Amino acid sequence: MAKFLNTVDLSGTSVDPDKIMLNINGISGLPTREEFYTNYPFYKYWNNSRNDRLLADEGVNIYIHIPFCIQICDYCFYMKEQIKSKDQVEEYVDHLCREIEMVSKKFNMAGRNVNSIYVGGGTPSVLTEKQFKKILETLHQHHRIVDPEFAFEAEPGTFNKSKLEWLKQCGVNRISMGVQSFDDEVIRLSSRKHTALQAINAIKTVQDIGGFEVNIDLLSGLAGETMSSWVQSVETAMAQQTDMLTIYKMKTYSNTAFFKKGVYNKEIELPTLSDEIMFFEKALDMLLSEGYGLWSTFAFTRNGAQSRYIENTWRNQDMIAYGASSFGKIGVFNYQNLNNVQAYFEKVKKNEIPIYRTFQMSYKDMIAKELLLCAARLLSYRKEEFIEKFGFDYFDLIPEAIDELVNKGYITADRDELVLTKQGVIFGDFVAMTLASSAKKVFAKDAIGFSY
Ligand SMILES: C[S@@+](CC[C@H](N)C(=O)[O-])C[C@H]1O[C@@H](n2cnc3c(N)ncnc32)[C@H](O)[C@@H]1O
Ligand code: SF4
Repeated sequence: MAKFLNTVDLSGTSVDPDKIMLNINGISGLPTREEFYTNYPFYKYWNNSRNDRLLADEGVNIYIHIPFCIQICDYCFYMKEQIKSKDQVEEYVDHLCREIEMVSKKFNMAGRNVNSIYVGGGTPSVLTEKQFKKILETLHQHHRIVDPEFAFEAEPGTFNKSKLEWLKQCGVNRISMGVQSFDDEVIRLSSRKHTALQAINAIKTVQDIGGFEVNIDLLSGLAGETMSSWVQSVETAMAQQTDMLTIYKMKTYSNTAFFKKGVYNKEIELPTLSDEIMFFEKALDMLLSEGYGLWSTFAFTRNGAQSRYIENTWRNQDMIAYGASSFGKIGVFNYQNLNNVQAYFEKVKKNEIPIYRTFQMSYKDMIAKELLLCAARLLSYRKEEFIEKFGFDYFDLIPEAIDELVNKGYITADRDELVLTKQGVIFGDFVAMTLASSAKKVFAKDAIGFSY
């Protein structure tokens, strides 16, 4: 401050304020001391149209990671370990419960409604009744859980009728089962331990008990897949009449055995990218002609089933993450827990929050996320929704990108809405990245941490 006063001589008569014209970034005029600003935004712009949004409890979602499996599948990129003993899981559950207590208090979670809970892995269905009930009890002590969507991932060889009975009693209402393929040879080549028949029986067991929405996952592009084995797999999946069917594109991540065997050592042959496109397009045609609806660019629904957990997180609701390697989001912070179980234990033992890394979202990141996940993944996107969230129209932000996607046949766009075409669904991630990266370019110069 002293320096400023020293360099500008306010005492002399040589400076006549009325003669100094300013022209800075479009603001021009004569300097004046007429205004005296103490707040921003100016009160004249405030109104009551958003009062309800401030007062609403948007709620929170919970993800719990159980990183143990009975097998390590050759394609799987998730953080997991082969299960060695019951004690190992017991020790993990103890630390998880301590983390729930510590983290929920730190972030004042007790009063916030829980919209959805997702127990994923790894393989949560390796948990015993006692272990699962301990986790649930701790959750109830520290969160407001009334009537959430409560999803649980299961592997066909790791549950039976009695396990499903107590899961249902505990409030679990959605089972998401990894099947990947109904072709025994393709299953074997992925190092999974069950057969197609065991998977079919496991689905039937869940359906017979009732009270669960059932989703099964298939993977398109696994080793050994041919068009005929794929068609047979999709037909078998449809015959099970599950509420949802998710078809993930098998991506060969560098931390998987498929990467080592198929990409690095070239010992096995993986389907090519164009094979995978044909597999997905075939499945899309088969499922739509059998009356399935599309819920997202990779999930098919019968009877209107959907995943609230996924939609809530895509729509940027808060998600609190528990367990090693889990990903969460609180306010503008995305975060991930330590992804090594021992390191996670050590932190929790010291009563420290086991966070490994964070990413602070800018307003621009939120726009990119909205375009990447909501606009492209959820098949259609209303202009009003974007304006409601961000205060302006996406047509004004990225008109060229939208025009190009329309001209190339990936989307249709009228005045109110963007809608993916069939081509846009098949290349959903391309559409998503085109929209998000075009927004990124508009904002490129000053974005914080905005890169991918
Ligand atoms: C964490 S796993 C849990 C399922 C359960 N452990 C099982 O295997 O039955 C969830 C899903 O991720 C999908 N997945 C795993 N690795 C993948 C990869 N490399 N690319 C795409 N999806 C993958 C699989 O379809 C799997 O069912
Ligand atoms: S797919 Fe499921 S069972 Fe296989 S390694 Fe991944 S999490 Fe474990």
